[in-house]
Amino acid sequence: MNTIKIAPSILSADFSHLADEIIKIDEAGADLVHIDVMDGHFVPNLTFGPPVVAAIRKITNLPFDVHLMVTNPQDLIVPFVKAGADIITIHAETAPHMHRLIQNIKECGKRAGISLNPSTPLAVIEEVLSDVDMILIMSVNPGFGGQKFIPNAINKIARLKTMIDERKLTVDIEVDGGINAATAQQVIAAGANILVAGSAVYGAPDIKQAIKSIRGID
Ligand code: DX5
Ligand code: ZN
Repeated sequence: MNTIKIAPSILSADFSHLADEIIKIDEAGADLVHIDVMDGHFVPNLTFGPPVVAAIRKITNLPFDVHLMVTNPQDLIVPFVKAGADIITIHAETAPHMHRLIQNIKECGKRAGISLNPSTPLAVIEEVLSDVDMILIMSVNPGFGGQKFIPNAINKIARLKTMIDERKLTVDIEVDGGINAATAQQVIAAGANILVAGSAVYGAPDIKQAIKSIRGID
């Protein structure tokens, strides 16, 4: 079985103390820092740009998992690589030339992910599955933290896992939205191995315990 990685989303952090909030998840056992980049166009919210990512790059050695919820991912790959991203995920809905953008990310020496909204079928990634490092299944409609998990994601993850195994590929399956200790166990059972959690981590009284519970170790 795959090792489970937990990627707390700093979207739910207290932005007035962002450095401390990142140190907290680092010390609490996070595996990645999930950074939600929103442009106010693809999704109805605005968050971080490359200067913020470059600033927080100095705070931790944890890998940066940059989730681009933007209409023009092609213009932002290099700026986020320069800012310190380790994984760059673009949305299939924003990328008619998905294969080219995956190659662009890999040419920068970074891991490439493709994300699918809840209503986007798995078929759109079939032809690039052997090129990507990760598929991110959205289990909420992107734009905000703290939303309710959409249960159809479980079946979608299971079908994706089958697609990957049938092709004998090693592609990470990340899931994002509404993940807590309960939904985590369902998506892990379906085949997900990287779990994003915002409100369930930053909203918890004990962050270390919250990460453990999501990981399923107690
Ligand atoms: C939603 C973002 C998520 C969000 C998850 O658009 O992509 O990463 O921060 O937040 P929770 O875990 O609270 O659903
Ligand atoms: Zn995200």
